[in-house]
Amino acid sequence: MFITLEGPDGSGKSTQVQPLAEYLRQEGYTVFTTREPGGTTISDQVREVLMRLDNRSMYPRTETLLFCAARAQLVEEVIRPRLQRGEIILCDRYADSTLAYQGYGHGVDRDVIRSLLAFATGGLKPDLTLLLDVDAETGLRRRQTGGGEWNRLDAYQLEFHRRVRDGYRELASLEPERWVIVDAEQTPEMVQLAIRGIVTARTGI
Ligand code: TMP
Repeated sequence: MFITLEGPDGSGKSTQVQPLAEYLRQEGYTVFTTREPGGTTISDQVREVLMRLDNRSMYPRTETLLFCAARAQLVEEVIRPRLQRGEIILCDRYADSTLAYQGYGHGVDRDVIRSLLAFATGGLKPDLTLLLDVDAETGLRRRQTGGGEWNRLDAYQLEFHRRVRDGYRELASLEPERWVIVDAEQTPEMVQLAIRGIVTARTGI
């Protein structure tokens, strides 16, 4: 069973992974958690390149390829072998993040991204994807620390985050059998309860 958590920045998905893993372990399952970009030594090195602040001049196509490169390594080295051993994989972000951020957010051709994703993952798709849905403004404000004035960059970021959020919702509507949308404006405890209920109902775990 391969379960992914997706959502815009500030959706709180990263805080949901470990409690969900603990719950599933208590139910007797072997659970492995990982995150993207990262999860292997090589993928973490690629993450470093992607996240470095002084790499601001990186083009969306470069980003797309690097996210796919990090993912290809993670799938081969970690995800596929563990799935074959019968483990449950919980992944904080996966291929849909590239469609949402580089595709809807930055406008990279989504059909091209889909081909790249198929190549990078060898066609491995999640069994279930939880979209932690949060309004772009709320998500961005949750991420911002220290307050400060609302400036041009924030406005640009807001537009970008709106496209990402709308993109996620469109992706979910295109494959309703795989996606479930969770209201992430609730408290973290409520979100966790909702997630557990969905995982049980959708997977029979
Ligand atoms: P994180 O904040 O969940 O660790 O994600 C890191 C950032 O990378 C986040 O802003 C989303 C972005 N991202 C993409 O733009 N494309 C991708 O394919 C992935 C996996 C993440």
